[in-house]
Amino acid sequence: MPEYYEVFGDFHGVLMDKLFTKYWEDVETFSARPDDLLVVTYPKSGSTWIGEIVDMIYKEGDVEKCKEDAIFNRIPYLECRNEDLINGIKQLKEKESPRIVKTHLPAKLLPASFWEKNCKIIYLCRNAKDVVVSYYYFFLIIKSYPNPKSFSEFVEKFMEGQVPYGSWYDHVKSWWEKSKNSRVLFMFYEDMKEDIRREVVKLIEFLERDPLAELVDKIIQHTSFQEMKNNPCTNYSMLPETMIDLKVSPFMRKGIVGDWRNHFPEALRERFEEHYQRHMKDCPVKFRAEL
Ligand code: PPS
Repeated sequence: MPEYYEVFGDFHGVLMDKLFTKYWEDVETFSARPDDLLVVTYPKSGSTWIGEIVDMIYKEGDVEKCKEDAIFNRIPYLECRNEDLINGIKQLKEKESPRIVKTHLPAKLLPASFWEKNCKIIYLCRNAKDVVVSYYYFFLIIKSYPNPKSFSEFVEKFMEGQVPYGSWYDHVKSWWEKSKNSRVLFMFYEDMKEDIRREVVKLIEFLERDPLAELVDKIIQHTSFQEMKNNPCTNYSMLPETMIDLKVSPFMRKGIVGDWRNHFPEALRERFEEHYQRHMKDCPVKFRAEL
């Protein structure tokens, strides 16, 4: 198994997968189109879920069309690169408009053309403690990732921003700032769990479509956790086994709010929350994500 800093390195103050930054010029010079829709999350915050919902909206609720290909082909992952094996930029260049683009980049690393073309952006935020739990399991299944060691050691790394995409605090705050622009819709995973209908309607309206009851019903049905867990196009079972080991943990793991309660010992929770308060105190928003 590789060592931590063999795989990850500092990139403009953000820890990144070195495979992704090796050909950064391709990302930096990426040419966004005005009708691109960008779906942004910090890792493990529900990118796959909201991506599938948005694709259903684009495909007017046609489940069969959504089942034609894996989500990572329908919604290319902008900065994802593994030599010639995966190349998000290449996939995007070959896609017809309108494209849906996935990224986990903090605002400061986003290619300038997305701002120049004034693209619509959806940012989905999830509470930090559940993110760190989900991220820990992700480390266990991604074959190129180093061993995260114990959960508490991983939490320490997360707090220091020493995980891919860096500090959760910086990420969320950077995108919150951007959401003052009306073309950026800021959403919460916890809100989606609380009332998916309300949140799907919000998405449909943001995309300037009609929130017809029949469409909303179809989306809710097709993108439920259970449905997506059983769907090979969304559960990542179409990725090669050389990349992901789904026998250790499924990608679609639990999909709940508050799984951190099953993982954080009391002392670690206290330390984490104290650290969280210190880093989020300058943030004017009371995040639902502070659960
Ligand atoms: S990634 O690898 O960063 O793109 O992962 P991402 O898709 O952002 O996040 C994965 C977590 O989202 C959960 N998920 C869902 N929750 C509820 N409903 C639906 N439909 C859904 N789809 C994905 C997924 O289970 C991961 O969270 P955990 O807590 O690990 O279960």
